Amino acid sequence: MKNSDYGPWGVVAGGSDGVGAAFARAMAARGINLVLVARRVPVLKETAEAIRAEHGVEVRSLALDLSEPDALAELARATADVEVGLFVHNAGSDDSAAAFLDRERADHLRLVRRNCVGVLEAAHHFGALMVARGHGGMVFVTSGAAWAGGATRATYGATKAFGLVLAESLWAEWRGAGVDVLALVLGRTDTPSLRRLLPDQSAAPAGLADPAEVAEEALTHLGDGPTWIHGSPDPAGGSPLGALSRRDAVIAMSPR
Ligand SMILES: NC(=O)c1ccc[n+]([C@@H]2O[C@H](COP(=O)([O-])OP(=O)(O)OC[C@H]3O[C@@H](n4cnc5c(N)ncnc54)[C@H](OP(=O)(O)O)[C@@H]3O)[C@@H](O)[C@H]2O)c1
Repeated sequence: MKNSDYGPWGVVAGGSDGVGAAFARAMAARGINLVLVARRVPVLKETAEAIRAEHGVEVRSLALDLSEPDALAELARATADVEVGLFVHNAGSDDSAAAFLDRERADHLRLVRRNCVGVLEAAHHFGALMVARGHGGMVFVTSGAAWAGGATRATYGATKAFGLVLAESLWAEWRGAGVDVLALVLGRTDTPSLRRLLPDQSAAPAGLADPAEVAEEALTHLGDGPTWIHGSPDPAGGSPLGALSRRDAVIAMSPR
């Protein structure tokens, strides 16, 4: 990855901890200035300060809830005076796994707003600028939950499938326009959001991916889209459930 292809500024939507903070560090290490978006101001400021100190790049922090309807307008305002050559949409996890009807409708709609509407709006805004310039990159962080439906993950999985298909489609449209798009498919990764879901938050179970390795690998393979499956023996290959019928895949994705 050359900074001239993807700089001089990058935006990480959900950039204060976990995979997003790892992306921010890996981008800063490549000399890219950053706009980091997240809700919790202390965590955001701490990450921004640490990255400034570690890498000497400019870092703006933008406290914003990406599930709010005016999020893109605020993000566009905060980046109007800089050239954004790399956009990473990371924020996307679900904070609980529950049956569809056991969750409030408003809760489902917040996930859709952040993971579908917000992703689309940002892709349209930054994509138009990148295509006009003839260079840039976008990473959409998605999940193995996108491969098939499954009980207790209806809305989360559906939003992740939206991100996957949107990213792959934009890759196909912009591949001749100098803009690289990558759908990054993650399995379980050791982040604060994942740990909050564990009964024992102090000890990570074995086999979790390391956010720093995830981000490093994704940036290295940003030009190898449309899809990169972290941790797969064939990261550019097909769905690991591809050999199953849709019915068996959905049963495999559902808790027993
Ligand atoms: N961790 C895993 O095991 C795993 C597995 C598969 C896929 N993924 C995918 O990887 C991505 C990152 O996951 P993650 O575990 O690091 O957790 P995450 O909760 O998706 O991301 C955490 C970051 O996003 C910010 N954020 C969350 N909701 C936000 C909102 N509404 N508005 C603004 N910022 C928001 C958080 O800061 P604030 O909380 O302060 O806002 C933090 O900076 C997600 O897209 C997820 O679907 C993760």
